[in-house]
Amino acid sequence: MYVQNTSVPERKPVTVPGLSAMKAQGRRIVMLTAYDASFAWHLESAGIDVALVGDSLGMVVQGHRSTLPVTLDQMVYHTAAVARGLAATLLVADLPFMADRDLAHALDAGARLVGEGGAGMVKIEGAAPHILESIAALAARAIPVCAHLGLTPQSVLKFGGFRIQGKEQAAADRVLSEALAVQAAGADLLVMEGVPAELGRRVTAALSIPVIGIGAGPHCDGQVLVIHDMLGITPGKRPKFSKDFLAGRDSVAAAISAYAEDVRSGAFPAPEHCFN
Ligand code: KIV
Repeated sequence: MYVQNTSVPERKPVTVPGLSAMKAQGRRIVMLTAYDASFAWHLESAGIDVALVGDSLGMVVQGHRSTLPVTLDQMVYHTAAVARGLAATLLVADLPFMADRDLAHALDAGARLVGEGGAGMVKIEGAAPHILESIAALAARAIPVCAHLGLTPQSVLKFGGFRIQGKEQAAADRVLSEALAVQAAGADLLVMEGVPAELGRRVTAALSIPVIGIGAGPHCDGQVLVIHDMLGITPGKRPKFSKDFLAGRDSVAAAISAYAEDVRSGAFPAPEHCFN
């Protein structure tokens, strides 16, 4: 196969300070996962702000039941592939399960995802003391960090499944204090996953860094989805918080553009995609 005419409209590169400015200006941030260069090119062409090489690739690409089997080598491989398809879109890559087991491993993982993979930011789940230490150490070495709280998929064994977090008042208050802690440690961005919309609103209002929601309601500063979910090609039932943007459209490009438009206008997520 020959790859022809891969030019995309020129845009100013999306940067970490640029994301903060978007929060300050009330402009919603559009984030979407990608795992290879071709889909990355589609994200770039549609003007998606942030591409995430999520360890969700363990489920939607590799066919595992969780993200736990994904290795750092695999994350570096997919991140480098996605980087080759991007130009202005900011690239975020996940630290996979146990890559954050201690400070030395977290720093090594961050260095590989940025240096070999070409990521512009790394994402790390949770707010345990060793995670806060890693966030601070990565930030001190000028590696931008995206934190990830709420339904953190790497904790699926502890949660007993992919369960909505922060439903009770005490649990919601704990998530809010974790959010303040990751911000204080030096995170530049926060993904909030699988929490009631009211908690998404509280966290977004309390933080100065942008908050990107997935199943966290309409009040976040931006939204992220797994691309297979929003194209309706994930095997099995579509998650409640997602929407099939390819339904009724005739191309992947049209679906991605519609997602971007609906996030920016506030049309997505609608009440049926949110949790109480
Ligand atoms: O791995 C992933 O794709 C993620 C998103 C669900 C936020 O972490």
